[in-house]
Amino acid sequence: MLIALVVLIYGWWRQPGTPEELFQARCSSCHELRVERLCEFPPVLLPAIVEVMRREQGADEVISAEEALIIQHYLKEEFLCP
Ligand code: HEC
Repeated sequence: MLIALVVLIYGWWRQPGTPEELFQARCSSCHELRVERLCEFPPVLLPAIVEVMRREQGADEVISAEEALIIQHYLKEEFLCP
């Protein structure tokens, strides 16, 4: 019982894991992950795209303000184009 609880809380706490996983999970929920398209923009503009998705395309239903910040930080600092 205790173990089940710990596993449950751990799973909830680490979902969806890293910022990269969060980006991949959230930004592919309406369309495929558009990495090629994203890579046509200079990296400094990538965080703004997350805002546009939330404000104009309804992504605020899927991506919370807190998650948006994590994804924006990931796109600016860690995201690598293929
Ligand atoms: C609620 C649904 C939804 C979510 C979630 C979402 N998008 Fe979109 N996205 C759209 C719609 C609708 C369009 C415009 C129509 C199309 O191109 O399919 C679009 C278009 C785009 C485009 C193309 C813009 C262009 O000018 O070609 C990119 C890039 C993009 N989204 C990236 C993202 C990223 C990055 C995320 C995660 C932060 C994301 N989207 C999350 C709905 C969403």
